[in-house]
Amino acid sequence: MPEYNAIKEINALLWCNYILMIKKYAVIGNPISHSLSPVIHREFAQQHNINLGYEKILAEEGSFKELVKKLVIEGYSGINVTLPFKLEAASLSDEKSINVELTKSANTLTFRDGKIISDSTDGIGLVNDLRKNNFSLDDKNILLLGAGGAANGVIPELLKCSPKKIFLWNRTLRKVEEMKAYWLSHYPEKIEVMNTIFLENIDLIINATSSSMSSSSPPINLTSANNELVCYDMMYGEKTPFIKAAEDLKLINFDGLGMLIEQAAASFKIWHSLEVDTKIVEKKLR
Ligand code: ATR
Repeated sequence: MPEYNAIKEINALLWCNYILMIKKYAVIGNPISHSLSPVIHREFAQQHNINLGYEKILAEEGSFKELVKKLVIEGYSGINVTLPFKLEAASLSDEKSINVELTKSANTLTFRDGKIISDSTDGIGLVNDLRKNNFSLDDKNILLLGAGGAANGVIPELLKCSPKKIFLWNRTLRKVEEMKAYWLSHYPEKIEVMNTIFLENIDLIINATSSSMSSSSPPINLTSANNELVCYDMMYGEKTPFIKAAEDLKLINFDGLGMLIEQAAASFKIWHSLEVDTKIVEKKLR
């Protein structure tokens, strides 16, 4: 049956071409099993009828650089990077966005023309989620809790939104003083450290600490908050002690799922130059 064989060969060829045409992406971290990024990126891709592969890859500490090289060779188009590899991702890139230069941290790598191009979309993810929830940062007093990568990573985008002031607080004072000195050298005047918690004039608190991983109490006491205070926790999943405390005081509060989806949308835009409907995806995931 020569005709039948020819059809089979053509089908196989078409299938190979289809596989080769699918753009491959991944998210790398440790741990990684909890990551929602593959689901989110596939939802975005469906909105535009794009075929893409997006997988989770667990990397052992010390193996990140080699893994990235391997993915480049295997023809991946880009990766998202999560803890604990964001600093390494920034340092191995050939071209860095301004936010990566400032925060020294990257969550989006694009492999193009033999180069690794890095971006950091966490800040824009946070700001876009607040916007989506009708919260404007313009002329607002923000209290940012934490002095680790999560807190530092969002400062440039917060400052772009013209807040009145960003107050920094951290359990360990030395770290927050260093953080303030660093950011003041880039953005004079807008940043202050809050030693004693004073919430009367604060419009928004962002919890960027990892306290909910180790403690059943919120990182700070919210009882002196004014009624209008908005509380935002970068964590998502189970309700954190910070969100529970905000709920007990009947304060408007948001968890970090919206930020996660918005930072993914910003990565998707970098890779595919396409806007997506994030509200539908958030509704599905909640
Ligand atoms: P990430 O990259 O997620 O920011 P990190 O760099 O380890 O992680 O930073 C964790 C942040 O959460 C730090 O600001 C840490 O405070 P310290 O600098 O004092 O360690 C903060 N943090 C962790 N557990 C906390 C807790 N139980 N209460 C208050 N802050 C906490």
